[in-house]
Amino acid sequence: MYTRKALTFLLINILLLSGFPDFRLPVRKDYRFPEQLPSLKELIATPTPAPTPTPKPTPKPTPLPTPLPLGKKKVQSTKPGNLTFAYPETAPLNTDPATYTLLVNKEYPMASSYIPYMVEPDVEIYHKGINERRYLQPIAATALEELFAAAEADGYHLVLRCGFRSYKLQKAIFKWNLETYGYYEVSRYHALAGTSEHQTGLAVDLCCEATDYKNNYDILKTPEYAWLVKNAHRYGWILRYPEDKTDITGYNFEPWHFRYVGVELATYLKEQDLVLEEYYGALPTSHLITVPEEYWPLLSEEDYALMQKDLEEYKRKQEEAAQQPTPTPDTDVDPSPDPDTGWDMEIDPTPGPDTEITPAPDTDTELSPEPDTNTVPDADPEVPVLPVPSPTPVPESDTDSTDSLSST
Ligand code: DAL
Ligand code: ZN
Repeated sequence: MYTRKALTFLLINILLLSGFPDFRLPVRKDYRFPEQLPSLKELIATPTPAPTPTPKPTPKPTPLPTPLPLGKKKVQSTKPGNLTFAYPETAPLNTDPATYTLLVNKEYPMASSYIPYMVEPDVEIYHKGINERRYLQPIAATALEELFAAAEADGYHLVLRCGFRSYKLQKAIFKWNLETYGYYEVSRYHALAGTSEHQTGLAVDLCCEATDYKNNYDILKTPEYAWLVKNAHRYGWILRYPEDKTDITGYNFEPWHFRYVGVELATYLKEQDLVLEEYYGALPTSHLITVPEEYWPLLSEEDYALMQKDLEEYKRKQEEAAQQPTPTPDTDVDPSPDPDTGWDMEIDPTPGPDTEITPAPDTDTELSPEPDTNTVPDADPEVPVLPVPSPTPVPESDTDSTDSLSST
């Protein structure tokens, strides 16, 4: 008994003298705390080698037969852009035209001189002859060929109505639509020159036989459109201006306009139901556009009234946003993002009908009657018949079979 006590005493003393052993796990010098770990975004961006690599179809880009009228700068998209981002964080804003994930919109324009290196995709194209609208950046051209081939394999024939549009052409389209249909049309359907995705050479307007090879809402009733909505992301394309995101994109629903962003990002955006503005955390507050002063003489009284209305709406939203309490750790407001949306910011969703294929009429806006598209003189091949918003905004497209200014 005494011997055991003596031994225990001795052992404790030995331990005290020699210092307690540290039973904690050794701390590695290179230990990184969670916030220093690579973000999910970086992990997402790390390409996972496919177990069985499928042979990619060899792209057959046709070199430009002649330099495009505005062809000065040639930039080839090679970088995939910055995909390192974990929702509900937003990705660092990317407006770099050398990447195919860049954001271009009313607030993030491109240089007027920008023109990428492009090729003609090997698909059916509406505009014939030498026409800048036939071109796309090589990566988008290949992706379009793949998209069309997959649709064809499932029995659907798609046609490229419009690819690239230069600053110059976009300017002409904007002006023509402003003169012809007024402010509402251009502010909801047509980008100011420099702000169109078509200038990137990464956007397309698609059509098919059922739409009479035009861009209009007839596409909503087609199986081609249903196929695109289901499959476009697999080939790197996104529906860029969806019906339920008009407040965010700043454009009315354009079921014909698709944008190449790469398979990875397209799949991500589709799965998360995000548009690029949400992905980059670049949410505009209104449809408001600044009509360049040179066009002011073209504006009618009705246009001014609509502009005024947009401006008031913009100011109202700004005031509303300013009045929103900013959550701080001291308040009772839960600063965590909404689990459903992942967004701290309140986005007023545009209420839409249950069906995806019926565009909601914009009842807030006074709309001019839809012009009779047949009245456009055939004699002038430059004169288009354009998508016109009507109480049910069906942008009836151009009827001319030649070059038109009605592109969207
Ligand atoms: N219709 C789209 C917004 C454009 O003009 O680029
Ligand atoms: Zn378009």
